[in-house]
Amino acid sequence: MRTLTKDTINKIGEKVILMGWVDVRRDHGKLVFIDLRDRWGLVQVIFSPANKELLSTADRLRTEWVVKIEGTVKERPQGMQNPELPTGSVEIEATELEILSESQTPPFSLSTDGYEIGEEHRMKYRYLDLRRPRMKENIIMRDRIINFCRDFLHKKDFVEIETPIVSKSTPEGARDYVIPSRLYPGKFYALPQSPQQYKQLLMVAGFERYFQIARCFRDEDTRGDRQPEFTQLDLEMSFVEREDILNLMEEMLILLVKNSAPHKKISQVPFPRISYSEAMQKHGTDRPDLRENKDDKNELAFVWILDFPVFEKDQNTNSWTYSHNPFTAPKPEYLDNLMNGRDLDKILSQQYDIVLNGFEVGGGGIRIHKKEILEKVFKILGHSEEKIKKNFGHMLEAFENGVPPHGGIAPGLDRLVMILRGEPNIRETIAFPKTGDARDLMMEAPSELSGEQLRELGIEVIKKIK
Ligand code: AMO
Repeated sequence: MRTLTKDTINKIGEKVILMGWVDVRRDHGKLVFIDLRDRWGLVQVIFSPANKELLSTADRLRTEWVVKIEGTVKERPQGMQNPELPTGSVEIEATELEILSESQTPPFSLSTDGYEIGEEHRMKYRYLDLRRPRMKENIIMRDRIINFCRDFLHKKDFVEIETPIVSKSTPEGARDYVIPSRLYPGKFYALPQSPQQYKQLLMVAGFERYFQIARCFRDEDTRGDRQPEFTQLDLEMSFVEREDILNLMEEMLILLVKNSAPHKKISQVPFPRISYSEAMQKHGTDRPDLRENKDDKNELAFVWILDFPVFEKDQNTNSWTYSHNPFTAPKPEYLDNLMNGRDLDKILSQQYDIVLNGFEVGGGGIRIHKKEILEKVFKILGHSEEKIKKNFGHMLEAFENGVPPHGGIAPGLDRLVMILRGEPNIRETIAFPKTGDARDLMMEAPSELSGEQLRELGIEVIKKIK
């Protein structure tokens, strides 16, 4: 049975088998030392000159080789202990060594935090980059956070439901990633920008409390806090009002911080709430950073932004567009104006954003659940009857079949992990992210298709003339 490095401290005097990577090798005269690394940490291994054959194999070891070591756990003599290392009170006296696989010299150091290395390099060899402790901890923290949220929501009787990735293009905000259809040449699927419509349809289906760790796809320019492919903790509830969702989220986020980042301090509980117009007037942005001391790494300033306008004027076309998504309900007191098309710019919605340290970490809203209101919104947005039917016919039809009032929210998991880990961008929190220019340098995506694949899909590639 294999022993993990972290468990060696409880096995003094015992024979153990360890497996992992050579973190470093040090030669001290006739002795060879290595630090053996596994997912849980490091432990020091000594090869003594007593066994010549063993020592000569140990002498061949290089950084990042994978080995199996048998040996005895010994307490380190006083003065030789390393208080910096959790296993610093012990070392393994090796009796056998098997080289499981060799490694090239890594293209960059894995022992630093890696910020100093060019990102192109890190991304091309991401499987090596992920070996550095900082990255490993980020990915493990992400798992812990997802696990916490799953557990929290299950305890509140939510059901986790998967929704399709291969779906339909609907005008929802960003540009879609599209997938050509082989069986229906000239037709296309689209990857979901979010599971918004499906989760509302799950409310129509009567699930009442849905959530999903949902992958979302948006073909938009990448930034530090934006990836073409990212993850939301997507949820929706029936028979709720705005207050219910805000309270649920607040409870979850407070417990999440306590659980996953207990050294962080939330500046204000309950979270302050400000209106969109106040945020714009006072801070000039709808995602204000309300930390008292912006140098304090451990301060978390959550703030709810409420009362967004339902409609905004599109600067380019001078027509109306929605501020969150077309399904967001107006506040009840504005319903009359909406149905009569009056003072459209002054109609406030039941949308809410949760902002943390200047980043929008979640957004949601109470939805329109009446067909005639949704139709009216589409008309105001300038959609023709035909376009409404084509793009949203399924929603309108569903809305004729007993729709409960409902609403939800979707925190962006990548951004949450980024802030809780004090990282400068979300690429540090995603195992295999895209580069700033939307490429996967390791897999070399995007890539060309073969002529045969294109023919099968009925697609001809037209080269752009520059
Ligand atoms: P929205 O578009 O506001 O809402 O997205 C919700 C949250 O997802 C995160 N986010 C992103 N994270 C990384 N990269 C991106 N490109 C990216 N885009 C968004 C943000 C954001 O707050 N369906 C609605 C939710 C709802 O109404 O329930 C939606 O997707 O943290």
